[in-house]
Amino acid sequence: MAILVTGGLGYIGSHTVVELLNNNFEVVIVDDLSNSEKFILKNIENITGRKPVFYPFDLKRRELLTQVFDAHSIDGCINFAASKAVGESQIKPVDYYENNLFSLINILQEFKERGLSNFIFSSSCTVYGQADTMPIDENTPLKMPESVYGKTKQMGEEILADFAKAYQRKICLLRYFNPIGAHPSFKIGELPMGIPNNLVPYVMQTAAGIREKLNVWGNDYPTPDGTAIRDYIYVVDLAKAHVAALQKLMQDTADGAVIDIYNLGTGKGSSVLEVIKAFEVANNVEVPYQICERREGDITIAYANVDKAERELGWKSETSLEESLKTVWEWQKYLNARNI
Ligand code: UD1
Repeated sequence: MAILVTGGLGYIGSHTVVELLNNNFEVVIVDDLSNSEKFILKNIENITGRKPVFYPFDLKRRELLTQVFDAHSIDGCINFAASKAVGESQIKPVDYYENNLFSLINILQEFKERGLSNFIFSSSCTVYGQADTMPIDENTPLKMPESVYGKTKQMGEEILADFAKAYQRKICLLRYFNPIGAHPSFKIGELPMGIPNNLVPYVMQTAAGIREKLNVWGNDYPTPDGTAIRDYIYVVDLAKAHVAALQKLMQDTADGAVIDIYNLGTGKGSSVLEVIKAFEVANNVEVPYQICERREGDITIAYANVDKAERELGWKSETSLEESLKTVWEWQKYLNARNI
């Protein structure tokens, strides 16, 4: 019984592979290393004492994917493989649609032809845009995201729902809020690729002196301290939710389509300034910052209602913001020690 994990050497993918291996799943990774490094595979083996099968290729190459399905008895897929830089997606829309949607469709063609089910899709809270009410539950109306990246997530969701309905298959859409942190072994985490766009990697690099100052994008939002609020979820907690979602799909033996949708967050919102403060306190370091204009496309506030995931998956986040931010700093030390 093998689970195909696309993008399994990426940030959330690698943490999920560890949890799958720890739960005795066989794992087959396909990853083109466009946003990762080979040492992550070695470190996954080191953490779990198990060796996942690994294929380094681009999922747009259907003929190679077919060979993977021929070689392994695949019982499900968790699809992480996607380009995810919001700014870049605006400059290279065609590449983003091609990369994020062609790869998804190639896997679904194999699933369709082989009668396979149990497909989990990495989605994002970006599909809600700026929701009118907080917290955001799964019935909150979707808004077409502004970014091409966000649109590929929303389109991916629709493609999967159509796939499930037409062919009577089981799928799950996991809408992540803001994943942060690194594995407690400090052997896997988010790898820096150029200048970070996301808050926590930027905070980490500023504390390490790699960046001079953090730009706080706006302090005139209608929030208590004027900075925007997000729901920061620890990546290992997030990874565990994938295992729970997969187990639920696999245990569901009823005929017919299943379309599960879960918001994955902590249920608690934190402002940018609160994250900076929490990082400084947790790690006893300073994070120099300056207030700047708002970043285009940013929303004011987003945090999850996670009742559904708790009720149906028996899952909830367990790790506090401070604990998560400690792992971020330890991970930076690991990277420093290796000149990464
Ligand atoms: C961003 C993406 C979202 C994607 C998610 C993945 C945008 C507009 N949205 O979400 O589509 O799913 O990443 O994790 O890019 N901030 C700063 N200074 C920085 C970086 C961020 O003040 O250097 C602020 C932002 O303005 C925001 C908060 O920190 O208020 C979180 O930002 P970020 O980590 O980029 O996540 P999102 O914008 O929520």
